[in-house]
Amino acid sequence: MGIIVHEAQKSFHLYNGEISYILAVLPDGSMGQLYCGKRIHDREDYSYFLEGCIRSHSAVIEDDGTGYSLEHLRQEYPVYGSSDYRLGAVEILQGSGSRLVNFVYEGYTTEAGKRMLPGLPSAVAKEADAETLRLILRDPAALLKLELLYTIFEKENVIVRSARITNEGNEAVDVTRAMSLCLDLPDAEYDWIQFSGSWGRERFPRLHRLEQGICSVGSLRGNSSHQHNPFVILKRPHTDEMQGEALGISLIYSGNFLIQAEVDTYGVTRMTAGIHPEWFTWHLGKSASFQTPEALLTFSNKGLNGLSQTLHRFYRDYLIRSSWALRPRPVLINNWEATFFDFNEEKLLRIAKKAVECGVEMFVLDDGWFGGRRSDCAGLGDWTPARELLPDGIKGLSEKIEALGMRFGLWIEPEMVNPDSDLFRSHPDWILHIPGRRASLTRHQCVLDFSRPEVVEHIYRALSGVIRESRISYIKWDMNRSITECFSAALAPERQGEVFHRYILGVYSLYERLTQAFPDILFESCAGGGGRFDAGMLCYAPQAWCSDNTDAVERMKIQYGTSYGYPVSSIGSHVSAVPNDQVGRITPLATRAAVAYFGTFGYELDLNLLTEEELEEVRSCTAFMKEYRELIQFGDFYRLVSPFEGDEMAWMTVSEDGSRALVGHYRILNHANEPFTRLRLAGLKEDSCYEVSILSGDGKNEVSYGKHFGDELMHAGLVTSTVYSGKTGPYARPSGDFTSELYLLRSIDAYE
Ligand code: DGJ
Repeated sequence: MGIIVHEAQKSFHLYNGEISYILAVLPDGSMGQLYCGKRIHDREDYSYFLEGCIRSHSAVIEDDGTGYSLEHLRQEYPVYGSSDYRLGAVEILQGSGSRLVNFVYEGYTTEAGKRMLPGLPSAVAKEADAETLRLILRDPAALLKLELLYTIFEKENVIVRSARITNEGNEAVDVTRAMSLCLDLPDAEYDWIQFSGSWGRERFPRLHRLEQGICSVGSLRGNSSHQHNPFVILKRPHTDEMQGEALGISLIYSGNFLIQAEVDTYGVTRMTAGIHPEWFTWHLGKSASFQTPEALLTFSNKGLNGLSQTLHRFYRDYLIRSSWALRPRPVLINNWEATFFDFNEEKLLRIAKKAVECGVEMFVLDDGWFGGRRSDCAGLGDWTPARELLPDGIKGLSEKIEALGMRFGLWIEPEMVNPDSDLFRSHPDWILHIPGRRASLTRHQCVLDFSRPEVVEHIYRALSGVIRESRISYIKWDMNRSITECFSAALAPERQGEVFHRYILGVYSLYERLTQAFPDILFESCAGGGGRFDAGMLCYAPQAWCSDNTDAVERMKIQYGTSYGYPVSSIGSHVSAVPNDQVGRITPLATRAAVAYFGTFGYELDLNLLTEEELEEVRSCTAFMKEYRELIQFGDFYRLVSPFEGDEMAWMTVSEDGSRALVGHYRILNHANEPFTRLRLAGLKEDSCYEVSILSGDGKNEVSYGKHFGDELMHAGLVTSTVYSGKTGPYARPSGDFTSELYLLRSIDAYE
């Protein structure tokens, strides 16, 4: 790994064992992009990669016959408004009224390692693990400085990038666009994959071929959103899960975002990612700086599974700051779908007692424990335990739960307030709203103005008081509405364009304070399910509630889609009751568990309502998860069969040394007289012999599938044909809808 600088050519080659990223100063002093992809040899001069040519109807910088036009050049941080007609990465409104900037290269620095960006979620790495390049550019006319930061990592095919703009003049300017990343790729032979959906069906992969023109995803909701995710893949058309090239771009940010591909008339693809420029301006006074969020770029030539595995490892090793990053997650029970708002201490303890008997390790009290919060109409913002429900407060309940032999977790929604609350009555101007206009409500609640430090301070004091006096091991941080009427009563008119970004900076500052004050607490982020499942949140909360939709069949798609960009250890997944609360479907408990295993795992139902037989199943599911959670949450995860393509789904996880693996295979709807099917596994050691067992979803009914070599299992595959009745071979396949099987593989070489 390293950064090779060719001083004469003013070019920079960032490389590790697998990838190269090459950029150089262009003749006009701006930065050009030469190459991004599989590692290539270094050479003194790569300027032949800069394809420029004289074309008719192009604007040229000088009328010198060279035809030098930015429109034809691949750039690193381009600007619209001179000779490039594509959308740029930066735009700054100056006192004159002009928005054009022209940054010219001045110099660079390099340093070992990667530092955090202050106040923003960002990767961090030790000196031996990464190297950082800082390019310094200036616009002498506008008196602005631009720093472009790039970090390459030794062990992962990842480059992280950001930009910083400083006003070196005496007059204030307004930054109206400042993307975190811009990458001009030499062709457009790509499929674009975005992860989109809505509440209850988050992050479904959507694929289409790039064409001339613009395609983009983004959010203007103030949270990264259920609708679109700040993560996009570009893959070559022939690339599939197991082979081929792909690029991933992820924005380490949780607010308004834009990720965009612009394919120009010459087939060049310009990728940009950053804060959405709509409703964004940043007023930059004398000597002030604006730091963009960080964006991540990853390259894979091992298919989409290779790309996902890089992201999974990278987030665990370099992004998640929590002490829980690499620790197996506790099996928990959450009371939300069991009770909703209808609970008291006695009812909660009854659920907790049953859960302890089933081996569950943590009890989580969800919404409704504070102030006048007996429904979602009132009380949000009043973080005082409701004594009529919990006579000894959260302190008392948490002690009683611990006395049962479980850890205790608590739900909070710090960013919100109901108008019917003491907090709102005493501080009506603490919500985001435009004075004199209506403030729209969602779920009867308003958004607190987290751009104001005093609001964040108040919430910090209220919540830290409850946490400090109680025995709290886990916090679920919810956020149940998006932002409307974005305006802060505390900011000057010229700063109103900063509110969306300042809001999310306020959220990060509260996360920072709470996670530092309580470093052992496991945080789970949540936004009405998966409305803020992004790399920014992961930095503070190593897991996220993936969706409010807990139906096992729907969850297959949601968890499968989420796994493209996020590790299994981050995917909050629970077994809930049937008929399912969101879709009314009845699925077997074993299948609900077999889906939830591939995540953090827990329960969300009243165990007292189960039969003794079902409780026995819960016991064995819990025991199974405890035994295999390390393998599941931290192994190499492979998507095998997509639930978006038929009535079958399969995924697997393999331990780092290849000695153990667990396969989840699911039949959604059964069909009569089906063709024979095989399931080809992945990630095994070809020459290792594996003992294979088939288990039902609850981890029981183990049947041997014999001993097989890794190459057999990967190239010939497991025989998985469903047989409606009777037996083929040594075992009977389950029949009916919504069935599941687990295959457990142990390498005999490793254990003998
Ligand atoms: C939305 C979350 O996603 C649910 O799990 C639950 O915590 C509710 N909010 C509580 O209001």
